[in-house]
Amino acid sequence: MQDYQTLLNEAEAVLRQNTIVVTVDGKRYERIIPSRDYYVHQWLWDSAGIAMGLVHVNEEAAFNELLALVAGQWKNGLIPHIIYNPAEARYYPPSHHWKTAGFTGHGIKTSGITDPPLLAIAAHYLCNQSADEQRKQEFLKIMLPSLMAYHDHLKQYRDPEECGLLTVVHPWESGTDDSPRWDALLKRIELSSIPASIIEDVDRNRKDMRFHNSEERPTEEDYYRYIYLVEIFKDLAWDYRKIVQQSPFAVKDILFNSVWQRANEALAALLSIYGMQEQAGKYRQWAEQTRQALTNTWDQASRQYCDIDVAQGNHRPIAVPTNALFLPLYAGAATDQHLDVLLQRLSQPDEFSTAYPVPSTPINSQYFDKDRYWRGPTWPITNFFIIEGLRRYASKNKNAAQQANLLIARTLQMITENGFWEYFDPLDDGTKAGEKGMGFGSFSWTAAILIQLLNLSEDTNASPHISLH
Ligand code: DGY
Repeated sequence: MQDYQTLLNEAEAVLRQNTIVVTVDGKRYERIIPSRDYYVHQWLWDSAGIAMGLVHVNEEAAFNELLALVAGQWKNGLIPHIIYNPAEARYYPPSHHWKTAGFTGHGIKTSGITDPPLLAIAAHYLCNQSADEQRKQEFLKIMLPSLMAYHDHLKQYRDPEECGLLTVVHPWESGTDDSPRWDALLKRIELSSIPASIIEDVDRNRKDMRFHNSEERPTEEDYYRYIYLVEIFKDLAWDYRKIVQQSPFAVKDILFNSVWQRANEALAALLSIYGMQEQAGKYRQWAEQTRQALTNTWDQASRQYCDIDVAQGNHRPIAVPTNALFLPLYAGAATDQHLDVLLQRLSQPDEFSTAYPVPSTPINSQYFDKDRYWRGPTWPITNFFIIEGLRRYASKNKNAAQQANLLIARTLQMITENGFWEYFDPLDDGTKAGEKGMGFGSFSWTAAILIQLLNLSEDTNASPHISLH
């Protein structure tokens, strides 16, 4: 049995071990990578999640993490999903693959797509946690213009219809790469239409399978399609007006947009604290528009919020249940009636209430695969969003409050019984506790979320008896 302080120390040690110091164009950056085993660069939504945990144990490092991230912003406002570390070769695709040199206007190498836009939420969280006014002023001098440019970029290019929902153009942008939500869209890309050079490149250079059990990763066919999409975007010279129109994968993703809703609320809150009321009003209005649009994605027949396939002129709801269907809670988009349905689904043992909830795909789904990446395993990050979503309703709904506390306790238990893994086997399937961790180990995000949940559990008394193996 280990106490609160020991757990904090263990989590902090993971974050320290995963810190890399790099110098680009004479400037020094400290970046926390997701894992030394494979993810050796900086990822947008990982990094934002990491900073929110880290601020509880090392405030300076948390602020630096976000500043290192925005150093990779493009001149047009895009914040890419990967900021590459020079001299790290473990990850595929490598930086040169993207052909994005020139977009940042300096020597930092990046990908060309984005991630769920968690950054403003993290920036706001850090400023709320810190009492160091000078640090916050210096941070916001860089962060606020950068956040506004990023949000303006997303709104301009990803919501050309002005409907309140942004379009993501790559499964990697959704953060839930091989989710069954995307199966039908991806299958539209015939494997026979993918150039042989891409297939060869993936076969020769894809590295995750070399370091890892292939049963737990996206399939080869997924990867051919992922890289093919990148090729299409390169051919369009990263012109997002064209990419959004022409990409065979284009979707109004409810997870991405729930984060977008909350990120606009966070940006508006930051701006109004610092006296920029007019700008704050604009982002507040975007947040409201997105909240309403998310509510409207509810489909009565399937009892869920639905992503919308908008590729090449389509407009088709995707009624495939995954844990993303709970994300509109995070955006405050659920009506009382929807909330009751979601609470019921969350507590259903043949759907989402497993030994370690919340599985990324419900266990009664034809697509459920307990081992494979976003097709079954439980992820700390999505649990965190669901917890925060439930807490949004806690004051007016006792059941939501109880389920939030239960999920905090179960998530803490999952991590402390098994270690800091990327994701976890959700089932009580005979595998012993302590052996249910999957993906890559010593995973930064998981360590950071443990810190945040320990913090929350202090407030809510949700903490179980925890021990770390
Ligand atoms: C990966 O490589 O697995 C990521 O999800 C892409 O960013």
